[in-house]
Amino acid sequence: MNIDQKVWEVLFSEKDIADRLSELGKQISNDYKDKNLYVISLLRGSFVFTADLVRKIDIPVKIDFITTSSYEHGIETTGRVKIINDIKEDLTGYHVLIADDITDSGLTMKYVIEHLKAKNPTSIKSCVLLDKPEGRQIEITPDYIGFTIPDKFVVGYGLNYGDYYRNLPYIFAVTDKDR
Ligand code: IMP
Ligand code: MG
Repeated sequence: MNIDQKVWEVLFSEKDIADRLSELGKQISNDYKDKNLYVISLLRGSFVFTADLVRKIDIPVKIDFITTSSYEHGIETTGRVKIINDIKEDLTGYHVLIADDITDSGLTMKYVIEHLKAKNPTSIKSCVLLDKPEGRQIEITPDYIGFTIPDKFVVGYGLNYGDYYRNLPYIFAVTDKDR
């Protein structure tokens, strides 16, 4: 669809995001004080979020990345998520914090949690920049949430629209003009 037929509305500015990440970073640093923290970030959507978040964490932290993808028109919901590139390390002794850009249906987070459990971490929690609770297909609540948003398609700050716009420093909602 032509971009001109869409309405672009800024939801969160660079400053909104930076302010919220400072708070989240402080909270995480406090909660994981004296714990072996391992942030595992889900590519590609959360590369911007993760890079900014970890710089607001002031305790020692290891960081690695998993590449996930979801089948847009999957027949079975549970089989929708795929891990394209996994971490190599065993997670014994680590407190894992999964970082993702957005939780919508919840299927990605659920799948990755189950996947990482097999690597034997001491604990697993999740941290998402955006939470879209109206999109849920399964019951799951992220442990740390940047912002809760309505059921809109959002773009920017790592989130893509037709594989573009990940580099925008703010977050937009994109809707059809006649909606
Ligand atoms: P899930 O539906 O919770 O499994 O989310 C799967 C993935 O879909 C997220 O990690 C995002 O990469 C992507 N996604 C979900 N909602 C949006 C959106 O509004 N804009 C861009 N990507 C989205
Ligand atoms: Mg994603």
